[in-house]
Amino acid sequence: MIKFDVKVGKIGIEEGVHIIPMYEEDVPRPAVELPDNVKDLISKVAGRDFKGRLEEVYIIPTIVPGGPERIVLTGLGKRDELELDSFRRAYGRAALRIDESMSETAFAPIVSDVFDLESTTESIIEGIELSMYRFDRYRSEKKEQKLKHVTLLVNDESSLSKVKKSVEVAGKICRGVYTARDLTNMPSIDCYPEKFAKIVYEIGRRAGFKVRVYQVKEIEDMSMGGILAVGGGSIHKPVLIELEYDGTGGRNDRPYIIVGKAVTFDSGGISIKPSEKMEEMKYDKAGGAAVVGVLEALASLRLPIRVIGLIPCVENLPSGTAYRPGDIIRFRNGKSAEIISTDAEGRLILADALSYAVEKNPKALIDLATLTGACIIALGTHASGLFTNNQEIAEKIKRSGERTGERVWQLPLWKQYKEQLRSDVADLKNVGGRPAGAITAAAFLSEFVGETVWVHLDIAGTAYTQETSESKSYIPKGATGVGVRLIVDYLINEVEQKESK
Ligand code: BES
Ligand code: MN
Ligand code: ZN
Repeated sequence: MIKFDVKVGKIGIEEGVHIIPMYEEDVPRPAVELPDNVKDLISKVAGRDFKGRLEEVYIIPTIVPGGPERIVLTGLGKRDELELDSFRRAYGRAALRIDESMSETAFAPIVSDVFDLESTTESIIEGIELSMYRFDRYRSEKKEQKLKHVTLLVNDESSLSKVKKSVEVAGKICRGVYTARDLTNMPSIDCYPEKFAKIVYEIGRRAGFKVRVYQVKEIEDMSMGGILAVGGGSIHKPVLIELEYDGTGGRNDRPYIIVGKAVTFDSGGISIKPSEKMEEMKYDKAGGAAVVGVLEALASLRLPIRVIGLIPCVENLPSGTAYRPGDIIRFRNGKSAEIISTDAEGRLILADALSYAVEKNPKALIDLATLTGACIIALGTHASGLFTNNQEIAEKIKRSGERTGERVWQLPLWKQYKEQLRSDVADLKNVGGRPAGAITAAAFLSEFVGETVWVHLDIAGTAYTQETSESKSYIPKGATGVGVRLIVDYLINEVEQKESK
């Protein structure tokens, strides 16, 4: 990760590599104040070689005596289209180019006249930090990260402490995103349930949250027929991982509970998937991985809040011990389901985890899952699907989605959809047919949350980059870590709202 400093200063009056954010116009215009000699330099390329389009970068080597050795123009796009995400993308792209061009340090000014200073700073840090992510532990030749040090420049002393605080907060959140990306990117051969749990345990020990791992015997005692059935086909036994972070000093507040689907590999089971793109099913643990990232971030932020994470973790494989279509299983809350497809496994393991979560009487219950291909058909790769039984929490999460750039889009959960889940032999069947597949999956989950305030996020389209994913500097190929920044933002706002009451 990058080391950040903050100081009062102006761009272009010191040696080094300087990032200059630019708005797109006929003649692109700097988004920060600049000394005349730098303005002159820029005017030679602005509008010709460089247009200021979002994520466009242009490097000017300079020979200003005592001045910058390089100016890195980075496009923010049009001023009236500016969002926080423009900063992530522009600074992330600049960081990538600086890293490529072998520089170790850079200066970056904060654009302080559009959004509030904290949010802008956090977005800049996220852009730089998250663009540097690489999953290269399996490569023999690793590319070394050259860029190691960035100095943020602010206008005046009075913003120093605010900006420093934001740098610290954003760094901790990015650490959580790294964790989620790592766990999601891990190949299933090295990240089966037992191993996933072990990694989480280690992270918890270091970050300061509790981790408890329930093994098969205990999962049986807890009557979690969904987890047992789905996990039954693999030599790697299923686990249920419970994480807890309590920053309330043992006040034992009602917890927030975050549940994440972790299917370490989803072959489809007996209802086996076509082999094309099946390798992507190592990403089916992204929901669980995001939960780990959230807890890690909260613990290092020492947020005054109590949060429980629940990760049902299984490998879905066909074998002589695998569950089958036609089987009927019973979940922790007593409901039964007829299995139509063993590939609709996520809802089965979540059913048990949600039932268990509800027993803890949470303030709010959120689950994250790469649940359905149908969600990708509905929304593509630009938003996660949001489903809820409570509009108030939905609106809060939508706002977090806009702030973090991890957008969500709500789909309806009308009671009529439940009719598609009627079974002739059990309380439910696990597949509701092709129409509205993402919604019927959510409707299935809704049977296990009772009256608890609940949001389900289907991250099948957003958890990893796919052909149609928008290319963004700070989202490298593979796992995106989606959900971590979204949920942490939601929880931070819950704390702030409570404190202001
Ligand atoms: N993990 C998949 C969903 C998925 C598909 C995630 C593609 C990411 C990319 C899930 O377990 C699944 O297989 N869902 C089935 C449900 C169907 C059998 C009702 C699907 O979407 O096809
Ligand atoms: Mn599946
Ligand atoms: Zn799955």
